[in-house]
Amino acid sequence: MAHDQVTGLFQHFSLRPFKAIDIDDLVVLFDHAMSTERAIGPVPKAAWERFLALPMTLNGRGFRVAHVDGKLAGYAESFPKHRGDRIVRHCKIVVDPSYRRRRIGASLLSNLTAIEPTETNPEFQALIPADWPSGLAFAAAFGFEHTESEIGMRCTQAAQLDGEAPQSISITRAAAPVNHAADVALIHNSAYATDVSLRPYTAHEMANTMEDDQVWIALKGSHIVGYCRVEIERDLVWIEDVAVAPSEQNRGIGRMLLKRALGDSGVGTSKPAGLNVSSNNPAAISVYTRLGFVRRREQRRLTAPRSALRQFLVAS
Ligand SMILES: CC(C)(COP(=O)(O)OP(=O)(O)OC[C@H]1O[C@@H](n2cnc3c(N)ncnc32)[C@H](O)[C@@H]1OP(=O)(O)O)[C@@H](O)C(=O)NCCC(=O)NCCS
Repeated sequence: MAHDQVTGLFQHFSLRPFKAIDIDDLVVLFDHAMSTERAIGPVPKAAWERFLALPMTLNGRGFRVAHVDGKLAGYAESFPKHRGDRIVRHCKIVVDPSYRRRRIGASLLSNLTAIEPTETNPEFQALIPADWPSGLAFAAAFGFEHTESEIGMRCTQAAQLDGEAPQSISITRAAAPVNHAADVALIHNSAYATDVSLRPYTAHEMANTMEDDQVWIALKGSHIVGYCRVEIERDLVWIEDVAVAPSEQNRGIGRMLLKRALGDSGVGTSKPAGLNVSSNNPAAISVYTRLGFVRRREQRRLTAPRSALRQFLVAS
């Protein structure tokens, strides 16, 4: 892509694709942004390098940067995810607080809308924390709609719940989790079948994502009917996923899986448990709340078809 020169209302700025040499400047940009959005960083150089090495980021191919007088003033990250025959382009734009309201964010967004070929109409998606008013106002200005929220919950003490696992169900920690990847993938795909953001997993893909997890399974006879995947970090027990086969739901199996996983992992004030849950999933929120989880933060998922964004961008 050529170096776009854009004359803003206030100052001249230029846009170009991201390059690996921009990482040092990105660290500084995110440090500056923390003065207005505390939770934005810090993002150290090593974290950027790890992020860019993830297959989904495609080495930053869909990333753009904006400069003012040779200084990095704005950054847009974006990468596509394929959902069946739909393309969803995930994006995040951050402009240095000293350069805001000069149309840098709008120009970066406009640039991202040119990535997919004209015959497609990808959906743009951004996850913006509920306490970032500038981001919410920016997204609203371009017609993004709030479709759901990702609710972050924490638990520092698992509630003492009565009851054992339902009859005929036994709960156990899997000695070799990847051996159960095929069953876990099947349950995952059927339990989330009605979720619009479902990403179906093959057994192989599930085995790869489970490599470092501890996994508790619910067995009915020798059949797995539910699982709870946990990532144990130094000072956090992260509940990656919990799901029960649709035919066995509403019997208390999910609650018992979580209770066992929290108990065995030593959750307490110095080692809380955390998870993310969709605001569109009241059943799960109710299970987590009864177990002692409380809401900590909300990230709003905002979506807009490219065609709508373009209309707003032209009109603004
Ligand atoms: C959101 C953000 C990227 C906007 O960047 P920006 O370069 O300042 O935005 P622009 O100048 O292009 O704004 C375009 C329009 O969005 C709206 N807008 C942007 N910021 C706004 C704010 N703080 N309050 C109200 N409206 C705002 C306005 O309608 C603006 O047009 P106008 O200035 O002509 O009225 C920037 O505020 C930021 O980095 N915020 C923190 C990170 C974040 O929330 N990112 C969003 C994640 S996708």
